[in-house]
Amino acid sequence: MSSTEATAPIVAVEGLGKRFEQRRSLFRRSPATAVEAVRDLSFGIPAGGSLALVGESGSGKTTTARIVVGLESASAGTVKVAGHTVGAGAKVAVRRKLAGQIQMVFQDPYVSLDPRQSVRRMLDEILRFHTDLTPDPRKHRIEELVESVGLPARSLAALPRELSGGQRQRAAIARALASRPQVLVLDEAVSALDTSVQAQILNLLRELRELHALSYLVITHDLAVARQIADEAVVMHNGSAVETGPVDELLRAPKAAYTQELLRCVPRAGMELPRRRIAVSPRAKRDG
Ligand SMILES: Nc1ncnc2c1ncn2[C@@H]1O[C@H](COP(=O)(O)OP(=O)(O)OP(=O)(O)O)[C@@H](O)[C@H]1O
Ligand SMILES: [Mg+2]
Repeated sequence: MSSTEATAPIVAVEGLGKRFEQRRSLFRRSPATAVEAVRDLSFGIPAGGSLALVGESGSGKTTTARIVVGLESASAGTVKVAGHTVGAGAKVAVRRKLAGQIQMVFQDPYVSLDPRQSVRRMLDEILRFHTDLTPDPRKHRIEELVESVGLPARSLAALPRELSGGQRQRAAIARALASRPQVLVLDEAVSALDTSVQAQILNLLRELRELHALSYLVITHDLAVARQIADEAVVMHNGSAVETGPVDELLRAPKAAYTQELLRCVPRAGMELPRRRIAVSPRAKRDG
């Protein structure tokens, strides 16, 4: 590996723009209007780094995330993941490779997990898609994945509805890890969880990041969550970056008026969580 490759960011976003052309009501004959969901957005995530996109509802976080993973096309700018350009122009082989390298975890695993599939079947399916593993090594890998996200072996037979919210999110994380990605995009991955379960999942994500040298793109409206699992943050407002910097610095000395406003919305309890480890009560541990 050359030194330029070694220092190139694993995710590089340059001048990204996204315009949704028509937003017209089905019933009223209102004129079609365009929404500028993302405007001239640039950021980079170093290999092993974690960057949060923070901002209120509608600021363009999810749109950015969807473009980065290739679920949505950009109107302007470029996105590169591990040196490959993401987008409609990419060759099928590159797209497939990228699909394995970058994976997304959504807010509500109830929506993203197939309700009729057991955890084992879900993982088996994803491994068959991304790897050439034969049944025995696949079985072994499934057990390893489930263990690595802190789920008991018996949850392999469970359907999503038979798991608790925290367990479901663990299953979704196991699925995201199945292809051994380099990057995880976490779109409000803990927002739907109770505070104690949230803390456990954030701990798990921190451990997994360290263990697998993962890079994270964290999407959150909550600076306290960003502080737990991200090094850097881009504060977004109306599709644009208003401030970028280390999360700790943004929290300590926010420069933009908008960041200061966002900080006023961070609950004090969240702010006081120790950065390294979050204490989890024994009861909460059992529930997760
Ligand atoms: N498919 C779409 N068609 C038209 N407009 C869209 C579409 N997806 C998103 N938008 C608009 O783009 C803007 C940004 O939306 P986006 O979902 O990226 O925001 P967000 O920051 O993720 O918000 P939230 O915190 O509520 O999830 C919003 O004005 C939204 O209405
Ligand atoms: Mg969103």
